[in-house]
Amino acid sequence: MKHITAITEMQEFCRSLRREGKTIGFVPTMGFLHDGHLSLMRTARAENDVAVASIFVNPTQFGPNEDLDRYPRDAEGDAMKCAAAGVDVLFLPATAEMYAGAPAVFVTVEKLSEVLEGAIRPGHFRGVATVVTKLFNIVQPNRAYFGQKDYQQCAVIRRMAAGLNMGVDIRALPTMRESDGLAMSSRNVYLDPEQRRKATCLYRALSAAAELVRAGVHEPEKVRQKMRAVLLAEKGVEIDYAEIVDPDTLVPLDRMQDRMVLLVATRVGSTRLIDNLLVL
Ligand code: PAF
Repeated sequence: MKHITAITEMQEFCRSLRREGKTIGFVPTMGFLHDGHLSLMRTARAENDVAVASIFVNPTQFGPNEDLDRYPRDAEGDAMKCAAAGVDVLFLPATAEMYAGAPAVFVTVEKLSEVLEGAIRPGHFRGVATVVTKLFNIVQPNRAYFGQKDYQQCAVIRRMAAGLNMGVDIRALPTMRESDGLAMSSRNVYLDPEQRRKATCLYRALSAAAELVRAGVHEPEKVRQKMRAVLLAEKGVEIDYAEIVDPDTLVPLDRMQDRMVLLVATRVGSTRLIDNLLVL
C-alpha cells in the first residue's frame, strides 16, 4: 500500500490512474477505523480498479466545544487495517496541508444541513461538505463510499455532488452493528462499560419504532413517542432528537408514507451517539 501526504503528489498519482483508464473508489475517513470503515474499503476495492482511502481529522466540522482534541487516533493500526482491507493508496494529509492559513472557502448545502444534526451542531455540515469537496478535487474518484450510520451526512454529500456536478457516484452502505445492535462508531471507545450497555437503547428504540410502523400505526407522533420512551427508560441518556422524516428531504412527517427514515441522537454521558433505520 502506497502512503501519500502531499496534495500535489496525490493529484498527480490519481490523474495518471485516470489517464490509464483506471477507475478509482474512494473512502474518506477520520481514522480510528472499525469494521464499518473496512467494509467500505473492501467494497471500494471490489468495485473499482484502485481503492483509495484517506485519514484526516477535519477541524472545520467540529464545533468549539466538541471533541476535536480528544478524537481517537491510531495511525499505525489504521494503516495495517487499510492494507488488509485491500486499500492501494492511503492519503494522510496534515492539517496545514489541507488548510493553509485560516479556511476562507466553504461549501454549504442549504436546508438539508440545517435540520437534525445541523440544528444541534451548527457549521458541522459546512465543514463536512468543504472537506469532502476538497478531497474529491484531490482524488477525483469515480465512486465514493460512506456509511449509512451517518444518514444525514450521506444525504448532504449526495445533494452536494449532484448540485455541483461533481460526477462522483455516492454510495451509502448499510450500517455495521455490534452483536447487540449498537452501530459501530469511532466514538464508542469513549463509553465506559455501563454506558456501553445503555447505548444499545438507540437501536432498541429504532427497532421498537419500526415494529410499530410495520404493525400499521397511523400517527408519526406515536412513533416518536415510542422512540423517546425506550431512550428515556435508560437513566443518564439524554435525547437530542427522535424523529421520523422523509428519507430525501429530511422533513419531519405529519402522516405516514411509503418510505420513511427513523433517526435518533442522544448523549450517553458526554458521548454523542446517533443511529437511524430506513423503513420501506
Ligand atoms: O464520516 C466521516 O468520517 C467524516 O465526516 C468525513 C466524511 C470523512 C469528512 O471528514
